[in-house]
Amino acid sequence: MFEDLKQHVIEILDTPQKTIDDRLKAICELLKSAVPYYDWVGFYFKNGDKEELKLGPYAGEPTDHTIIPFGKGICGQVAVSNQNFVVPDVSAQDNYIACSITVKAEIVVPLFVDGKNIGQIDIDSNTPDPFSVEDERFLEFVNAKVAEIL
Ligand code: SME
Repeated sequence: MFEDLKQHVIEILDTPQKTIDDRLKAICELLKSAVPYYDWVGFYFKNGDKEELKLGPYAGEPTDHTIIPFGKGICGQVAVSNQNFVVPDVSAQDNYIACSITVKAEIVVPLFVDGKNIGQIDIDSNTPDPFSVEDERFLEFVNAKVAEIL
């Protein structure tokens, strides 16, 4: 599944006639529709020179959490750790921001441009403990490709 999706991601990014936001939104929609346990897919980016994340393109239910301070929640922790954060069970996390009561698990993978952590892809799942290293490698691939057009 992920090999086919990689090709799709490349094709979506290779449409310079579309805006960057439109291409990122198309990637979110592709991932959400293709992977059964991806229930919310979105990008957050550093908000200018502020120590906070701002929600970018996403697919899934609208969220109130359009701004997340660095250090807060899973997303805010990844903004400072520069490392993937895989959460098999969100109820076991103290520093977690709930977007929906249906969410059971989350994965956040940082997005680097020229070695700088400038954002992340965030995925919520309504399935408990669904993510493996395959998801991590795939999402690292997606972010590396996205970084090429930013
Ligand atoms: N759960 C995230 C907040 C973002 S929503 O999942 C869309 C967190 O704890 O950072």
